[in-house]
Amino acid sequence: MSHYYIKSPEDYAAAYQKSTEDPEGFWAEIAEHFQWMKKWDSVLSWDFDGPDVRWFNDAQLNITENCLDRHLEERSDELALIWEPNEPSEDSIQFTYGQLHEEVCRYANVLKKNGVNKGDRVAIYLPMIPDLAIATLACARIGAVHSIVFAGFSAQALADRINDAQASAVLTSDGMYRGNKKLPVKAIVDEALEHCPSVHTVLVSRRTDEEVPMQAERDRFLADELKTVPSSCPAEPMDSEDMLFILYTSGSTGKPKGVVHSCGGYMVYAAFSFQNVFQYAAGDIYWCSADIGWITGHSYILYGPLLNAATTMMFEGVPTYPDAGRFWEICDKYQVNQFYTAPTAIRALMAQGDKHVEKAQLDSLKVIGSVGEPINEEAWQWYHDKVGKGRCPVVDTWWQTETGGIMISGLGPHSPMKASHAGLPLPGIQTILLDQEGREILENEVEGYLCVKFPWPSMLRTTYGDHERCKNTYFSNYPGHYFTGDGAKRDADGLYRIIGRVDDVINVSGHRFGTAEIENALNQDQRVAESAVVGYPHDIKGQGIYAYVILKDPIDAGSAMENSLVESVVRGIGKIARPDKIQFVPGLPKTRSGKIMRRILRKIAEGEASSLGDTSTLLDPGVVEIIKAGAL
Ligand code: PRX
Repeated sequence: MSHYYIKSPEDYAAAYQKSTEDPEGFWAEIAEHFQWMKKWDSVLSWDFDGPDVRWFNDAQLNITENCLDRHLEERSDELALIWEPNEPSEDSIQFTYGQLHEEVCRYANVLKKNGVNKGDRVAIYLPMIPDLAIATLACARIGAVHSIVFAGFSAQALADRINDAQASAVLTSDGMYRGNKKLPVKAIVDEALEHCPSVHTVLVSRRTDEEVPMQAERDRFLADELKTVPSSCPAEPMDSEDMLFILYTSGSTGKPKGVVHSCGGYMVYAAFSFQNVFQYAAGDIYWCSADIGWITGHSYILYGPLLNAATTMMFEGVPTYPDAGRFWEICDKYQVNQFYTAPTAIRALMAQGDKHVEKAQLDSLKVIGSVGEPINEEAWQWYHDKVGKGRCPVVDTWWQTETGGIMISGLGPHSPMKASHAGLPLPGIQTILLDQEGREILENEVEGYLCVKFPWPSMLRTTYGDHERCKNTYFSNYPGHYFTGDGAKRDADGLYRIIGRVDDVINVSGHRFGTAEIENALNQDQRVAESAVVGYPHDIKGQGIYAYVILKDPIDAGSAMENSLVESVVRGIGKIARPDKIQFVPGLPKTRSGKIMRRILRKIAEGEASSLGDTSTLLDPGVVEIIKAGAL
């Protein structure tokens, strides 16, 4: 029996058992499904103290050969990618495997021609247009390391990421469409590049066709370059442990870190998890509504589906344009079979009432998925009843940028399903709960810190340029374990329910921000003495951003100051991190050693100031009363 395709609860049980008893044998058998230029000498070597984890050591491969070339013989004319534009009246663009292969090869040749070499880092700052998918695969084709930056990040955030990775090229577009807005893109790149000396090349895709200034030495229009290169490009042989990509994500301290994924393990796990969670069958149309700028788009718009010869969709627009029926119209238009989205979108659409979703047929749907944040029971039920029509299994997929692929989730209809529970770990994933002292909790009906005790193929290998940071963030809290930063419950049947972050990371509409990162942006304003940011429950976004700000001169407090602080965050990070509430305060609750008591600030922001607990250890307990009185 092949463990690659899990088709029943019994298959799952057998695969899980095999994956713990003989992990190397299990993953070697799965890896046999792919095309390797050279096979591995050993399946796994690992040490979580380093950390030093290697999968398929000394093997060679190119992931694009597995995503594209491998399917050409039998599926050259089948659809690989369908692109649905922002405007419903604009034509969609579709690529067969043959066409996508050629587009990727051409783009890869343009990269080479412009001096991008194997191992170079390439920043991709593109909206959801086909060139984003093509550019990403083109980097992988030549062994350049892609670092995709979501096109909603600000110039400053983009510059930080380019500089950290020392990227030599930026792939971008003139502008972008999003809902009823037309937004600049190249202009943001230009602003960022004033501070990025490592960049020698900028390739610009056309989308909005507006005039954009071009720097003669540095900038090229992609369309002009494509005309000058051949349509075939050999796939660069990559070592299994060579870097495939960097993706920046926020943590509780400092600037966002570059999570590094490597070629072989990531490929195997992205493919395996996609196939089994979504139970994709040949001919199905699969749609994940995420942006490729996030890990969900990397693993489950691009790599996972293409590795399985699936037809994958990408959507340029937003769920509410032209109206709140857009997602459901797209599902009907393309007869989507698997649909994957985020709780924040589900809640936003649910808030618009049932008329849109009831207008749609949605009878092609077989599996519907959720990702990015805990899905509350009301949203889960609505998704299950109104979108899945009570017919489709809901797969609530828990994972992270660092895990590379889905870790805990149902596998289509083959798993127990329970509202708001991600469920059981995938085969090969040894999740555990630890107590305060770091001891593994073996019983069920418990709550603890969610950790993983054994390596899996797509786990992060390092944080770019700073291995110590990787060790300190993920492998030091509970030595010998990967610590996720999440708290979770496990029910009587062993199903996991994710509670949320237990560190200073907040999750706003499924996007991760470190509170320190937002505070840094607020503190850029010279009039700010100090700030503290916490999350609070938000009906649509899951969590909202609540900022407590001490001004050097309290006279500055007021709506003009608020606006300017919001601007500061938009400039430092992007609109996605815009604070929802700003409260001006005379001081912050601190311990005698000067540490901010965030627990108290969180309670006040949550509107639960009556249960603050012990505040006697505070330096100035009086400040709490003032903050409470002014809470928003
Ligand atoms: O807190 C968990 C939450 O999102 C975090 C990871 O964020 P990011 O790296 O941006 O990746 C998001 C997409 C994979 C986790 O630490 N999270 C993700 N999925 C779920 C979730 N929380 C609850 N349920 C989920 N299904």
